[in-house]
Amino acid sequence: MVGCRLVFAWLRPLAAASAFMISAWALSAQDEDRQMDRFISSLMKKMTLEEKVGQLVQIPANFTTGPEVKTGDYRKAIANGYVGSMLNVEGVAETRKYQELAMQSRLQIPLLFGKDVIHGYRTGFPVPLGEAASFDLEAIERAARCAARESAASGIHWTFAPMVDVGWDARWGRVMEGAGEDPYYGAAVARARVRGFQGDDLADTLTILSCIKHFAAYGAPIAGKEYNSVDMSMGQFANFYMLPYKAGIEAGAATVMSAFNDFCSVPSTVNRQLLRDILKDDWGFEGFVVSDYYSLGEVINHRCAADTREAALKGIEAGLDMEMSSPCYSGHLADLVREGLVSEKLVDDAVRRILEQKYRLGLFEDPFRYCSEAREKAIVSSAQSHADALYVSERSMVLLKNAGDILPLSDDVKTVALVGGLSKSAHDMCAKWSCADESRAVTLYDAMRKRGVEVLYSDGYNLDTDEITGLEKTIEDVRRADVAVVAIGERGEYSGEMRSRGDIAIAAEQQELVEAIARTGTPTVVLLMCGRPVIFNEAREAAGAVLCTWWLGSEAGNAICNVLWGDYNPSGKLPMTFPLHHGQIPIYYQYKSTGRPASNGWWHARYMDIPNEPAYPFGYGLSYTQFSYSSPEVLPGDGGDVHARVRVEVSNTGDRAGEEVVQLYVRDEVASVTRPVKELKGFRKIALAPGESLEVVFDITDAQLGFYTESLDYVVEPGDFTFMVGTDSEHFESVAFTLEERTGKKKSKN
Ligand code: NOJ
Repeated sequence: MVGCRLVFAWLRPLAAASAFMISAWALSAQDEDRQMDRFISSLMKKMTLEEKVGQLVQIPANFTTGPEVKTGDYRKAIANGYVGSMLNVEGVAETRKYQELAMQSRLQIPLLFGKDVIHGYRTGFPVPLGEAASFDLEAIERAARCAARESAASGIHWTFAPMVDVGWDARWGRVMEGAGEDPYYGAAVARARVRGFQGDDLADTLTILSCIKHFAAYGAPIAGKEYNSVDMSMGQFANFYMLPYKAGIEAGAATVMSAFNDFCSVPSTVNRQLLRDILKDDWGFEGFVVSDYYSLGEVINHRCAADTREAALKGIEAGLDMEMSSPCYSGHLADLVREGLVSEKLVDDAVRRILEQKYRLGLFEDPFRYCSEAREKAIVSSAQSHADALYVSERSMVLLKNAGDILPLSDDVKTVALVGGLSKSAHDMCAKWSCADESRAVTLYDAMRKRGVEVLYSDGYNLDTDEITGLEKTIEDVRRADVAVVAIGERGEYSGEMRSRGDIAIAAEQQELVEAIARTGTPTVVLLMCGRPVIFNEAREAAGAVLCTWWLGSEAGNAICNVLWGDYNPSGKLPMTFPLHHGQIPIYYQYKSTGRPASNGWWHARYMDIPNEPAYPFGYGLSYTQFSYSSPEVLPGDGGDVHARVRVEVSNTGDRAGEEVVQLYVRDEVASVTRPVKELKGFRKIALAPGESLEVVFDITDAQLGFYTESLDYVVEPGDFTFMVGTDSEHFESVAFTLEERTGKKKSKN
């Protein structure tokens, strides 16, 4: 005890001195880094091999977010300095408890507390896929900032987010946690989320470390089956999956999580090409890599390691810095070093990366700096958080149909028949991967009753079995009402990790109910509540209006009412294609040109029995107003990086203010390799008053025109391109452009 006090006493003045120097002479970033290096080097000199390995170990606490693991006497391990991080500890009281244990260790190296803060913390935000539908990067950043604020105030240092995996297959329930099917848009969202979580300064007690996951290609499991193998060429990876990871790293993400799946036949967690060659060497990633939950131990199940010892060896060699939950590093790494099978330099590099993040958070200066009860009380579930959640939720909804302008509801609507148990379930509103305080979530039922209209509520169907209940009463209510609002969908827990489904259609009973309600002649609005694209052909045909609300979190009810009554004009667009039929899955807009392009004749890329077209294409979403687009024109570039500019004028021709997401798609007309029929390469969300017009100009640089080769070179080939500008991936006008030969093919390393 005396010994540890002495060491701590030695650490503190150094850190305190550095804080003084920073404020007094405004140290340059370089000087700060040098100071950090000196501090960490000096600390590492004092560490035993076991203490070093301890920093690479992360253990779960009270509850698990994966299979149960044996943690042994983890309190003792923490007090001995053999644990670097814990997951799933939350709240100032709890984190303080464990940090105090860590302060009993010889060198008093603080613990790092990580948690899946995925869509808000106690104040729940829309599921990430829903939030991505906003196409509003400022709103997305605001959501992450709020989640960081609340969780940091609750003692958490690190979120395992954002998940940036591109997903094309709606059977894979985890698409709910990402930004959809497009790599260009996914990259923009990744940057916004990293900025939101980390802010400008990790030492700010209202920011947290972010984690880009799951590296790599976790969003492409074969047949959409969770945890399944991934099989793709490097070129396919680079052009369709890689950008969001890279963008997150470039935005400064402090950590990366390796994926459960294999990549090019090697499990990602021990994949040297991924973790060392691409991530650390080519991209210069300076943070640390954590495994997914037990994924180092699972290398044995992949049959790529005989036992935990071999897994440890492969992990450290590949560049895996921290192991989540499994016992490979803690059990074997020190022995492997002592036996000369692993160089201590590899361990040192991993330790340094982890200590650096602890240093940046200011934990060496004060291990308890995130443990303020007063701050926790003031920030968590604050009015500011709820205002942020409402703002983001309103922007996340997508209007899919509005026949006869049923929406927005007019002041003449005095009686609403609200049908569907989902509209009344706070638990479902908060959805999967939620940390939200359900007692403070506003359901649609609650919000509507406060709206000053008569609400005739009926469950409509059994939430667990989907069986239609009380049909007679429901129909009676509907006949009495001015409008029927029917909440249908999949349950909040149905999408997320381990939620792959072979059938993503909305229950037949729910759809029959919509048909029965619509047959009454009462205008019928369907609210589609889901965490992924679903198939609901009967319901969407029967309904007059369809609003996709996803799962919106704590302010769901208020946000939905604001859109129903037109206080907010919906502006979301689909970040994933909605299939018409299961047989089309995976369906995505940026499919490649084939030798026999789709057409109605024989011998073409199509199905015999179902159309190629989706129910709703990527980028689709309506507004209560209308927008018109001028024909796009190509303007000259700047003679430098900007090859050309594409200009379009967008006008609000309706009588309401509204927002539009102007989308630019590009096709390479002739290339040395097969290229997609179109790729999103620019978008702008603009707000227009009635009658207002705005010029939108997109710069065309190499980033819009090039592609990656199998060896990860980025090339831009001169020749013909088509630019398409419009309201979604199917509705646009085109203009041609030729990139002249200048210095031949441009080529650069990713
Ligand atoms: C497994 C998930 O794949 C990962 O995203 C998550 O962060 C960990 N479990 C920890 O809960």
